Amino acid sequence: MAVPVDRGREELDLEEIEVELLLEGIHRLYGFDFRQYAPASLRRRLRRRMDGENVETVSALQDVILHDPQVMERLLLDLSINVTSMFRDPTFFLAFRKQIVPVLRTYPFSRIWVAGCSTGEEVYSLAILLAEEGLSERARIYATDINESVLEQARLGIFPLEKMKEYTQNYIRAAGTHAFSEYYVARYEGAQFSRGLVENVVWAQHNLASDAVFNEFNVIACRNVMIYFDKSLQAHVHELFYDSLAMFGILALGQKETIKFSPREPAYEELDPEERLYRKVR
Ligand SMILES: C[S@@+](CC[C@H](N)C(=O)[O-])C[C@H]1O[C@@H](n2cnc3c(N)ncnc32)[C@H](O)[C@@H]1O
Repeated sequence: MAVPVDRGREELDLEEIEVELLLEGIHRLYGFDFRQYAPASLRRRLRRRMDGENVETVSALQDVILHDPQVMERLLLDLSINVTSMFRDPTFFLAFRKQIVPVLRTYPFSRIWVAGCSTGEEVYSLAILLAEEGLSERARIYATDINESVLEQARLGIFPLEKMKEYTQNYIRAAGTHAFSEYYVARYEGAQFSRGLVENVVWAQHNLASDAVFNEFNVIACRNVMIYFDKSLQAHVHELFYDSLAMFGILALGQKETIKFSPREPAYEELDPEERLYRKVR
């Protein structure tokens, strides 16, 4: 007996079912939870991996992913777009100096969480800023990402030499007070940043979708990460941040994300509407 299939809906629904099964399989086998990532960009990235692995369907991709952890590693890189740069959006760092540094000065010691730190450029930038403000000894940065391979690069602190011109300009626009070149030495194609800058940095894998609160923070910076999440995952992450922030702690989201429309919005007051800095007040 032929099993009836609704031809009109077949194409689209079939792929939707395949994607759901793939994400469920990844979650169960590898523990990475992409089930609430924004569907359109997720599908684009899956198609790119299908091309890369030379397979025609999402089910075929599932087969290779579940049987070969190296394919999973490659998909992870596709899914978690690691684009970043030093002093990215320099006005954010200006706002950090102006609005957050004075608050940090009032604490004997503070903890800063950079969530979704990618290859570490943002963390080295913050470490430079804290050093220039005389706060290095009084602050610890916890830098986390879902992806262990970007964290490995971050720990090395070597960034492409050809980027230094752009980063120097960003640094100047962020009101850096030294010569940017003081912070690195050129080695072959790379700029090796000073180890001393990140002495107080703890690097760790942490998945915002599924891992728990791990400390109490005075500042949480999470920029260009939640744009890949759907509304309910964004709400989940806001809950995690709320639970991880000390009272009067600051949530720094940058220009692309907002606390607006999240159920946690009433718990914050706005410090900087452009750079989306919020203070937890209840
Ligand atoms: C575009 S980068 C942003 C890097 C940096 N924050 C910046 O603004 O330049 C996004 C990072 O979020 C990480 N990421 C994606 N999903 C995540 C999750 N569920 N938990 C933790 N990190 C995640 C990715 O691995 C990636 O390194």
